[in-house]
Parts: sequence; structure tokens; C-alpha cells
Amino acid sequence: MPPGVKVRCSERSSGSAPADLLLSRPFCKILNINNLSNAMKVTVVGAGNVGATCADACARWELANEVVLLDIKEGFAEGKSLDIWQTAPISLFDSRITGSTNDYSKTANSDVVVITSGLPRKPGMSRDDLIATNAAIVKSVTENVVKHSPNAIIIVVSNPLDVMTYCAFLTSKFPANRVFGMAGILDTARYRAFLATELNVSPKDIQAVLMGGHGDTMVPLPRYTTVGGIPVTELIAEDKLNAIVERTKKGGGEIVNLLGTSAWYAPGTAAAQMVEAIVRDQKRVFPCCVWLQGEYGLKDVYMGAPVILGRNGVERIIELKLTKEEQELCNASAKAVKEVMDVLDKMNNVPA
Ligand code: LAC
Repeated sequence: MPPGVKVRCSERSSGSAPADLLLSRPFCKILNINNLSNAMKVTVVGAGNVGATCADACARWELANEVVLLDIKEGFAEGKSLDIWQTAPISLFDSRITGSTNDYSKTANSDVVVITSGLPRKPGMSRDDLIATNAAIVKSVTENVVKHSPNAIIIVVSNPLDVMTYCAFLTSKFPANRVFGMAGILDTARYRAFLATELNVSPKDIQAVLMGGHGDTMVPLPRYTTVGGIPVTELIAEDKLNAIVERTKKGGGEIVNLLGTSAWYAPGTAAAQMVEAIVRDQKRVFPCCVWLQGEYGLKDVYMGAPVILGRNGVERIIELKLTKEEQELCNASAKAVKEVMDVLDKMNNVPA
């Protein structure tokens, strides 16, 4: 390697500065180094827009030797994965990606399974409107996942997110550190993107925490938002920040109204970032939808909170010191999630 050249082969391209990206790929190829997380297998269930975007990122970032994309629709996952595999010579990755029509034996012994199955929202629908249809789908998918990958970590992406994560938790009977949901990375990404536009700064320099359910009751925490280490409140007027917080809460709906269906680039990429933290054992600090057992004074509810994510899944739930007002917002969000969890419990005939 030429002296002084910093080749960061362990970094995925999407997280690197453009200069790194241009340097690292050719050098990795010349040195015959790849970024593969050795012997890892990742399955993405659901080859719709979110699932395919997630599988594409998992392959491009070389998060596993084997990426399996599965869908119930005949030939759909095979087609999408073939298309993704045909980008390998262009994007220069070695992860093998294959598709399967509902044959879970192909997913056997996956280390991480991302569940994206279910119907997306249409304009005018809330995420909660999807519960009956998507609960049946997520339950059946989880049963198959557990049968073939009993040691997997499950990341749920299907909506209504917090309750579908609860559904996978109940069905799988896995410990809660191995069943959690993707929402906080997406919601904070939206918040960070809006702030980056408003402040005209790099989105990379904006750090944020957000709590609560993945819905209108989510709780962005401006007090814990920084721009290159500077509290955001020093850089933006209060009314502008409040407007961004409100826009973030409705960020998913904004896209549903524009597209007639829900978003996929940011949700799929956010799920892949969680896969990366696990397979590379990065101990990243992300807001994720997790099973709270007394943290924040909340019990038996799946909800967004900051966690450390590594090879064991959720390795720790971080408890922030909240103000009275922030705590009240979290309590209200937990209450809203619990109401939908109760609907699921009634469907499952679980006594209250
Ligand atoms: C969203 C959907 C995926 O927020 O929940 O875009």
C-alpha cells in the first residue's frame, strides 16, 4: 500500500466521505480485501420496496457472505435479488444475494432476520390501521423464521412498528435483546436531514436522540440534539426548531401523501444500518424500538429508546435524565402504543 494512503476497508461506502469512497474501493480491490462480515448470513423477509432497499444495502456494504431475500409472491424475491447481484461487478461487492419464494429452508441459520412484510400505508391511513392484516403476516413470518433460524436476531420494520415488534416478540419467544424494531434511526434521520437543510450544514455532523412510538406521538429531544457538538438550540430559533420537530413527527405521512405509498429508501437503509451494527459488533448508539421493563418508569411496552447495538442485539438500554415535560411526552407515547398493543392482545385472546 502506498505510504500515507488511508484505506478504510472496514467502512461501508455509504458512511464514508466521498474521498474515502473513491480511494477505498479500488484499493480494497487491488489488495484483494473485502468488507465481508465473515460467515454472517442475513435474511430480509419481504422483497417490496423497503425489503429490497435493505437487502441491497446489506449486499453493497458487504454485511454478510450470504444475503437472502424472501417473498411470498412467486419469483419476486428471485428477480429483485438477481437484479441486485448484477450490480456487484459495478458496485464491487462480494456478498452473495439470492432470492426465495417463501422457502424458509433457504434462510436457515441466519444470524439476523429483518422482517419488512406487510401492507404499506395509503394516503389517509394511520400506521395503526394496518394492525389486523399485518399482525397475521408478521406472526406467520416469525413462526417460519424461528423454525429455521432459532438463534437469529430479529429486526422488525413492518407497521404499526411498535406493535408488530411486540407481535414478533410474543410469537418468537426470543429474549427481548434479540427482538427489536427499526424506527428511531429513520425518525432521527428525517429530523437530522431537515435540520441539515435548514442550517445548511452536513447531515453527518448532526446527532440526535428521539424516543417514543413510531407515530405522531414520537418524542424528538432537542435538548439532546447537537451540531458538531454544539447544542442545536444555539444555532436555530425556537419556532424553526419546533416546526422541524412537528415535521419529523409527520415525516412518514408527508411521503405517503407525495407518493401514494410509504417511504422506502430511508426505512430500508436505516434497517441495514442496524444489521451493520450487529454483524460488525459495533456497539453503536441508536434509538431503537425496544421492550421496556421499568426503564423510564415504563413497563411491558415496546417503544423507542436509545440503546447500544452490537453482536448480542440490544446490549444495553440507555436511560437519559428526562425533564418532567419530556417524561410526560414519553408517557403519553407509551400509552398510545399500549392501546394498540391491547388490540393485538385481544386478537390473540391474551387476558388483560
Ligand atoms: C415511515 C414508515 C415506513 O415512517 O413507517 O416512512
